Amino acid sequence: MPSSRLTSSLYLLAFALLLQNVLGIDPLFRRCSSNTNSTATSSYKTSLSVLMGSINQLVPVEGFALGSLGQNSQDRPYGLLLCRGDVSPSDCRTCAVIATREIRKSCPNSKRAIIAYDNCLLKYSDTDFFGQIDDENKFYLWNVNNVSNPVMFNEKIIELLSQLATKASYNSTKLYAAGEMDLPEGSTKLYGMTHCTRDLSSADCKKCLDGAIRDLPRVAYGKEGARVVGGSCMAIYEIYPFVKA
Ligand SMILES: *[C@@H]1O[C@H](CO)[C@@H](O)[C@H](O)[C@H]1NC(C)=O
Ligand SMILES: *[C@@H]1O[C@H](CO)[C@@H](O)[C@H](O)[C@H]1NC(C)=O
Ligand SMILES: *[C@@H]1O[C@H](CO)[C@@H](O)[C@H](O)[C@H]1NC(C)=O
Repeated sequence: MPSSRLTSSLYLLAFALLLQNVLGIDPLFRRCSSNTNSTATSSYKTSLSVLMGSINQLVPVEGFALGSLGQNSQDRPYGLLLCRGDVSPSDCRTCAVIATREIRKSCPNSKRAIIAYDNCLLKYSDTDFFGQIDDENKFYLWNVNNVSNPVMFNEKIIELLSQLATKASYNSTKLYAAGEMDLPEGSTKLYGMTHCTRDLSSADCKKCLDGAIRDLPRVAYGKEGARVVGGSCMAIYEIYPFVKA
């Protein structure tokens, strides 16, 4: 019966879209090291596989996990997984599993790689990067729609995100903060989020976020929404409530 087939394919389409949204199946970005020096040995790959397994086990509890594993320094991977601060433990677990699978598939021989989804960020390297601000991996996404008063809007973005940067850095055990602010015109509100990987000190979290916030007017001036997602911190603003839970 055509109508039931149509119904079921519509249902499938809706389900696929829902899955895309909920799981964030498409990565926001990924990057694999590629020079010949960075080809992973088989012992590195074995260590990485065990490390990823334990990080996957640990991450849903706190939304963050890191570790390193290996006999000698040449073959020791360092790994880190961060779930966005508003993500539930079960969505965190799902994102961790997908990120781990995808990074292995995309970067099978890389000694260093990073992958980011809406819900989580996974990164590994053959050098100890814990506690250091990652300035190499930074990605920008924005809403194509323009606001009508970019000058005022830009001031409000900076004001809100700067407050949230301070809160995340100095007043949150998870180095995470979300909040909102009324805009003077109309009934719209501005919503924001800031988050750092928890290996950073408070001062470095603030420094990382300040850098991300400084980038926004340059890359997304006058846009209704934008994100800076880096290897150590992220800053997001939108004119709709995007924070989950
Ligand atoms: C590769 O490794 C060698 C020895 O560690 C080093 O001298 C060389 O600069 C490296 N090359 C690249 C492209 O990283
Ligand atoms: C936003 O503004 C830019 C620059 O003025 C313009 O090129 C673009 O088409 C505008 N976008 C929309 C969705 O109107
Ligand atoms: C931290 O948060 C608490 C509760 O929201 C607040 O009372 C306190 O003033 C904040 N401290 C700083 C340093 O912002």
